[in-house]
Amino acid sequence: MINKIITLRQRPQGMVKPDDFELIEKPMRPIAEGEVLIELEYISVDPAMRGWMNEGTTYIKGVELGEVMRSFSAGKIIESKNADYPIGLHVSGILGTQKYVISNGKGLSKIPDLKESLSLHLGILGMPGMTAYFGLLEKGKPEAGQTVLVSGAAGIVGSTVGQIAKIKGCKVIGTAGTDAKCRYLVEECGFDHAINYKTEDIEDKLKEYCTSGIDVYYDNVGGPLLDIALKNLARGARVVICGAISQYNKPEIYGPKNYMKIVTARGYLTGIIVFDYLHEYPRAVKEMSGWIDQEKLKTKEHIIEGLENFPSGLQMLFTGENFGKLLVKI
Ligand SMILES: NC(=O)c1ccc[n+]([C@@H]2O[C@H](COP(=O)([O-])OP(=O)(O)OC[C@H]3O[C@@H](n4cnc5c(N)ncnc54)[C@H](OP(=O)(O)O)[C@@H]3O)[C@@H](O)[C@H]2O)c1
Repeated sequence: MINKIITLRQRPQGMVKPDDFELIEKPMRPIAEGEVLIELEYISVDPAMRGWMNEGTTYIKGVELGEVMRSFSAGKIIESKNADYPIGLHVSGILGTQKYVISNGKGLSKIPDLKESLSLHLGILGMPGMTAYFGLLEKGKPEAGQTVLVSGAAGIVGSTVGQIAKIKGCKVIGTAGTDAKCRYLVEECGFDHAINYKTEDIEDKLKEYCTSGIDVYYDNVGGPLLDIALKNLARGARVVICGAISQYNKPEIYGPKNYMKIVTARGYLTGIIVFDYLHEYPRAVKEMSGWIDQEKLKTKEHIIEGLENFPSGLQMLFTGENFGKLLVKI
């Protein structure tokens, strides 16, 4: 059996490029006692991958050159010498950008009785969905009647944050980079307003939509938009820094100028790392599955076919070409 593996060939300078990766083939060894062989079906393509390609350690160690590119992935057990993980069971985890993987069960999440698409367990019911759930509810602490602004709103994290905020009775405004994404947010996801940050005057629009200021700003993009949001905070506002995708390919990160607004607003600015909530995922998955069943929570996927298209797919996150949770189907 021959494995297909995407490895990190070189560390990117600036924008990530297909050349930064290499597709290699390698024979699989037989599994040992206690191990399982998993055939992966979906690879999650995430903005965090850009950071994992850098040298050194942030909240997690960078991928070594020549190593399989780290990714969240999901598939089915096709061979087993571990009674806890029988053949046919679907599983997910940090299993890498490859077709097959051998595991001893450590770090595997079981997905028994799969009814929905397996891909949802890498999106709304997986790491990005958990980021939205815990980032908004535990850090943003939205209250009914309050105003929530979310940037990168048409992505899996942003669109889920906005919809959960609506479930909690908030007024929700999102920013996104195309009119089609803005229409999706209002017409499909129930946002009150969406602002095209590329064509509209964000400051004017925020004045119009957030008449009593922003109570929660959930930031996925960073950069100058963070400054605009800070300027418009309501008293007691919470700013949740989830990511800064506008900065990931830059040599130096833009720092906010209006941070003193946190003082005058008596607010706070905080960060979220989803891995801190691992032990609480099951209750979030249960609640979010309920919202999906009740059609209160919608999701959109953008699926690319073929492992060999992973490198060009990753670029799409930074050009805005993806519309929905980006995944590679093997
Ligand atoms: N802290 C954590 O634990 C954690 C976990 C998961 C994800 N995150 C973060 O959450 C954020 C959203 O992740 P996601 O998975 O939902 O991905 P995503 O929103 O689909 O990310 C891709 C989108 O980002 C937008 N974007 C790209 N460059 C931009 C720029 N210069 N300015 C503004 N927007 C830009 C584009 O949409 P437009 O067309 O709207 O520009 C693009 O389609 C990312 O920052 C990610 O790093 C954090």
